[in-house]
This record gives sequence, C-alpha cells and structure tokens, in this order.
Amino acid sequence: MIKDKRMILIGLIFLSLVVEVESKPRNIHVTLAKDPRNTVVVTWQTDSSVKTGIVEYGLTSSYGSSVRSTTHTYQDDKNKIHTIHDARLTGLISGQRYHYRCGNSSDGWSGDRTFITTPEEGATFTFCVVGDTRAGSGNRQYERWGKIAEKISNHDIAFFIVNGDLVNKANTQEEWDLWFEKGEPLFSKFPIMPIVGEHDKSSEGRGSICYQSQFLLPDNGEWYSFDYGDAHFIGLNPFMEQDYATKEREWLDKDLNGTKKRWKFVYTHGLFFNICKNKVPNTYLRIHWGTLFDKHKVDIVFNSHAHAYGRSYPIECDENDRKNFFIKESYDEGRCYIITGGGGAETYPILPPDELRENGIEKALEIHHFVLVTVSSNSLHMEAKDINGNTIDSLDMFKGSLIPDSAKVIYGVSNYPNPFIANREVTKICYGLKEASDVVIKIYDLIGKLVWAYEAKAGEEGGRKGLNRVSWNGKNEEGNWVSAGGYICKIEAREEKVIRKILVK
Ligand SMILES: [Fe+2]
Repeated sequence: MIKDKRMILIGLIFLSLVVEVESKPRNIHVTLAKDPRNTVVVTWQTDSSVKTGIVEYGLTSSYGSSVRSTTHTYQDDKNKIHTIHDARLTGLISGQRYHYRCGNSSDGWSGDRTFITTPEEGATFTFCVVGDTRAGSGNRQYERWGKIAEKISNHDIAFFIVNGDLVNKANTQEEWDLWFEKGEPLFSKFPIMPIVGEHDKSSEGRGSICYQSQFLLPDNGEWYSFDYGDAHFIGLNPFMEQDYATKEREWLDKDLNGTKKRWKFVYTHGLFFNICKNKVPNTYLRIHWGTLFDKHKVDIVFNSHAHAYGRSYPIECDENDRKNFFIKESYDEGRCYIITGGGGAETYPILPPDELRENGIEKALEIHHFVLVTVSSNSLHMEAKDINGNTIDSLDMFKGSLIPDSAKVIYGVSNYPNPFIANREVTKICYGLKEASDVVIKIYDLIGKLVWAYEAKAGEEGGRKGLNRVSWNGKNEEGNWVSAGGYICKIEAREEKVIRKILVK
C-alpha cells in the first residue's frame, strides 16, 4: 500500500514536471514587420492548456512595457493540435537593443531574450542568408543545421534569411520542433525572415499549415518586402499557380518601382541558373521575374534548391528567350545570382567548369555553407563561409555614382573572387577613379617581392574615369602560377596609393 502511494506520488511529480515543461514557451522567434524600425513580431508555442500569452519588453531586462498575444491553434499531419501565440510589438525606437520575455505568470515565462530594431538609413549592418537547412542524409536530426546555426551566431548580424526548404516534411511538427531546437543559437539572438521551399509548401503552392501558422510575415506572407537601413528586401514564392503567379509578378513590379532604397535584394527558393548535376533550373523564372530584376537593377538575387554554393557572372536575362541570357561586364550592368543551398541537407555534385560557364556560373563549390552580406550606404561586402567558418568566396560592390567625399582619385577598391584559385580562376581587381589617370597596379608577396605589374594610361582600360576592372590570372612575371597565400595589391594614381590584400588558394 505504502509502495503504491509512493508510485502515485512519483507519477504526480513527473506529470507536473511534464506539464510545466510543455506549458512554458518554446520555439520562440522574432520576425520583422513591414517597417522593422518600430515593429517586430514575437511568436512561440505552448501546450494547448495555455490560453493567453504576454510579451514583456523594454530597453533593459526590467522591461516596462507589455502586449498580449493573439493565440490560435493548428493541426499537423499526425492530427495533433498545436497552440501558437503571436505578439506584435509596436512603437519601438529604431536602432535599439530590446529585452523581452514571453509567456504568462501562471504557466511560466521564457528566459530573457533580445533583438535589435532596424537602424535609420546610413547605418552599416550585416545580414545572413542560408538555404536548404532541411533534414537529409547526414542531417536526419538537423545536426548540420545546428552546427551552421552556431557558426552564424558568432557573427554580429542584424537578421537571417532562410531561403526555403527549412524542414523536410512541411506538416510534421516534430521536424519543426527539432529545427527550432537546433537553431536556438540563432533564434535566441536574431530575427528570422523565411521564405517557402517545396518541402515547406502545401499542394497548392502556398506555405503549409505548419509554415503559415508559425511565421507571421509582412504583406500576404507568401511574398513580401521590407526595408532595412538603406536596403529593400523582397521574398518571393516560386510555386504559386497561374492567377496568383500573375498577381505576384504585378506586385513585384510595383514594389520594385516604389522603392527608393539604394540596395535591392531578392530571395527565393527557385533556381534560375544551374550549378548541380542532378538539378534542373526553372528557366521560366528568368522571363517571369529576371527581366524585372534587370529593369529595376536588383543588386543580388539569392536562390537555393541546388545543395551547393554558386555565384553567377553579371547576368541580364533575355525577355524573348528563357533559355538565353547575356553575360555583362560588371555587376553594375548585370545581376549577381548567388545560389546558397548548403544549410544542412546533403550536398550535390557540381557541374564541370565548361558547363558552369554555359550556365552563367563563375564560381561553384559542393560545400555546406552560409552567406554574410555587410551593407553600408555606398558599398557592399559579401562573404560565403563554409560550415567551419572559412571564407570560400567574397565579393564587393560599389555604387559607382556615389563617390565618397573622402576619395582623392581612387575609390571603392575590391577584387573578386577573393580568395581565388590561381590555376583555375581569374580575380578581377575593381576600383573607381574620380578622373582619368595613369594607373600602376603592383602585386607583391608578403616578403615584398614584386610578383606582377600592370600599367594603364589615362583613358585606357584601367585608367578610365569611373569604374575599372583589371584581371589577374595568378601568374607571376615569369609566367608561373604563384603559390597559395596572401598577396599585397598596390594601386597608384596621381601620387595616391591604395592597398588591397588578395588571397590565393
Ligand atoms: Fe528545394
């Protein structure tokens, strides 16, 4: 009898612990609103016994403000009912770190968490793009996604984009729970802006019930845009059927036409250009959307779906032929398509080099990775990092019409790719000149030995007013490939000298 009572007591204690754990907030995340300078959305899940939710927030962990959530339920593919809470935090001050906690006093609170509101124009910020985080071989329990999330969380980012195929099964909540759990290093610190992939969608092409229920996004949620600092961001759903696809295109044209932001970024799971052997690009998207990206001069288009890293040449789509496109001289004249599908799912072999070029691709690697982009008023720096945090590609862009006041003659020096592989790639050294000038470019090794030199007369290629590009193939003056390592590139014009470090792999 005594033994029975003990068992009942232990059972009750266990049950109360389970109830407490389940009734506490979980899968907590922040999404940005249409104007994230002053509004964000906090979303979390609880056990179905929890009927109300509150977010307490403020500039310190003492909070001071609070808002009640909207609570709703949804059913997954195992007929389980899930409870979700969304709270819209409005009237925030731009560019501030806010503390918050969510829950309620009877069912339990989350720990203290933070997010930063978007700054006003002119501020420098970094965002991250990662795609195809879903389960697959070697990532059944989202281990790789967890490792990548931890690596990204070491960077001081403003928010991160997950570019579709977040999970493997759109309506299986256990998958989402694992995905949130493994991504916690990111969710605890930074807002997320997702877009739907084919693994996250319903049969009609919209986000699945689980996806729609867990992410409260701007506009209609299927496709949307928002501003952050000097940049305009657009997320697009490539799976909408005819009527909605037409509406989405009309919206895209109007949205791009309406923005005055200096930088424009688009992200969509749809694959415009091929990098992998077993994937077929959606060439229809080139006419459907690509021509609008050209018309409105979008700076970078992020694609996923191919599980590898890729960067296109500067591309202009052909409005008369979906299979054709034009490779332009620079990213001022053509769009940069970055394929980022290395967030956790198994990688795919990439095409051989000659086929990559035929497909408009300048760089491709079969590798798990993420992409960081740092944006300031008139320059942009992109770095792709592998799962261990090593840089695998980089790119600089400069708004040529915006010459900084501090520039004497030379401005906006960059090279890409950087690092580059000396016997397989050519790096382009890019710079602007305020006026046509004689230019000398010299590349030295780290002990100061001259490796390569180039001279341009004023007005010639390399010495023109405006943007210039000079290619170095990684050979020294004797015609031999240089060894891997760091090199110093010195650009001289009218007694001004500017230094740039070039990395050879
Ligand atoms: Fe996909």
